[in-house]
Amino acid sequence: MDKFAIRGGIPLRGSIPISGSKNSSLPILAATLLTRERCLLHRVPDLSDIRTMLDILRYLGAEVSFSDGTVVVDARKIAGEAPYDLVRRMRASVCVLGPLLARCGRTKVSLPGGCVIGDRPIDLHLRGLEALGSRITLSKGYVVAETSGLVGARISLQGPHGSTVLGTDNVMMAACLARGTTLIEHAASEPEVCDLATFLRSMGARIRGEGTGCLEIEGVDQLHGAEHTVVSDRIEAGTFAVAAAITRGDILLEEAPVKHMESTLCALREAGVSLETEKNSLRVHATDPLRSFQLRTSTYPGFPTDMQAQFCALAATVPGRSEIADDVFPNRFMHISELKRMGASAGLSANRTVIHGVARLSGAPVMASDLRASAALVLAGLQAENTTIVHRVYHIDRGYERIDAKLRAVGADIERQR
Ligand code: EPU
Repeated sequence: MDKFAIRGGIPLRGSIPISGSKNSSLPILAATLLTRERCLLHRVPDLSDIRTMLDILRYLGAEVSFSDGTVVVDARKIAGEAPYDLVRRMRASVCVLGPLLARCGRTKVSLPGGCVIGDRPIDLHLRGLEALGSRITLSKGYVVAETSGLVGARISLQGPHGSTVLGTDNVMMAACLARGTTLIEHAASEPEVCDLATFLRSMGARIRGEGTGCLEIEGVDQLHGAEHTVVSDRIEAGTFAVAAAITRGDILLEEAPVKHMESTLCALREAGVSLETEKNSLRVHATDPLRSFQLRTSTYPGFPTDMQAQFCALAATVPGRSEIADDVFPNRFMHISELKRMGASAGLSANRTVIHGVARLSGAPVMASDLRASAALVLAGLQAENTTIVHRVYHIDRGYERIDAKLRAVGADIERQR
C-alpha cells in the first residue's frame, strides 16, 4: 500500500491547476445511463472513484473510454443490475439507481454499506423513488426497484441533517423520464447538483430551479446524447487554499470555482488569510500570526463538511481556541486522534471539536481513514517538524488528482513510497 513521506516546514509558493469536480463527475457519469445515445464529458478527473464508476458503467453494458480527461459513454444496451463487489468500493455508486430504474423499469443495486464517516442511510433516495411510482424491496443486501411507469410527484427530501446531495441527484434523474411534473422540495442546492441539472438539460431534460432548494422537473419521453464540461472541484481548491494557509505560503489556484467557495473563503478570511480573486483564479497568501476561528458545517451555501477535516488541521496550527462542529456528518472526526499523534491539542465531544493551536506540529506516522481525513493529515504534515508518514493514501487517491505532484510543483517535500 502506498504511503506519503512529507518533510514539513516549507512555505508553498507557485500555481496549482484545479481539476474537474469528483462529486460532479460521479452522478453525471451515472446520468449517461439515461440515454441510448453517446455522451462526451470533459474535465473528468483521473481518480480511483471515477475509475470505479467507469467499471460500473462497463459492467452494466456501456462502452466507455477515458483519456486526457475526456470520457465517452455509449450506453445503447444496458442491464439493470449493479453488484456488491463494485458498489461496496464507493458509496456514490448508489446514484445509478435512479437512472437504471427510469431506463430499464427494474433494477437491482447493492446497498452501499457502512462508511467510516458515520451512518449513511439511503432512506431519502428510496422514499423519493417510491413517490415517483416504484415498488422498492430490500433483499439480501440489495435494493430492488420496479415500476410499470414512473409518474411525477411532489416529494420532500428533508432529512435529519438537511437535504441529501446524491438523493436529490437520484430522484432528479429518475424524474426526467417520468410522466408529468415532479416537484422536489428541500432539494440539495450544492453546485454539483446544479452541474448535473445543466448536463441533464443538455440531454433534453426539462428542469428548473436548481440551486434554490425547490426543483421542478417536467418529464420527457426520452433523453438524447450530450457533451458537457465538468465544473472545477471546490473541495480540491479549498484543500490547496488551506495548504497555502497552513504553510504560511502564497499559492495561485488556477480555475478555482470562486463563486462556489464563499463559505470556505469566509472561514479563511476569519483566520486572517489574505485572498485575492482574479479572473478564474484565486490567490491565497498567509503570514503569521493567523487567528483562531469558529466553524459549523451545513448544507450549501453553508460551510462544507468536506472541508471540515482540513480546517481542523489548520486550527491545530493557529494560536488560540478554535471550535469546529459538523452538523452534516456528526461523527466525521476520525482525523482528530491522528492529529493528536502529531502534537495537536484537541478535544472531542458529540459533533464538535475544540482545538488549541500549537506553534508547530511534530511529524509522526499516521493513518488515513477516509478521503478528507487523509487530506487533513497531508496538510498537517506540510506544517510539521521532521517527517510525517501518511499510511493508506489510497483514500486520498480516490478524490485528489496527483495531489503529491501538484504539491511538489509548489515546493512541498512529499514523496510517494510504494
Ligand atoms: N442522509 C439521510 N438519508 C439519506 C441520505 C442522507 O439521513 O437517504 C443524511 C446523511 O446521513 C448525512 C446527510 O443526510 O447526515 C447528508 O448526506 P448526503 O446524502 O447529502 O451525502 P451524499 O450525497 O451521500 C455527498 C458527497 C459527500 C459529501 C456529502 C455532503 C458525493 C459523491 N458525495 O454525499 O462527499 O460529504 O454529499 O455534502 O457527492 C467526499 O467527497 O469526501 C464526500 C464524502
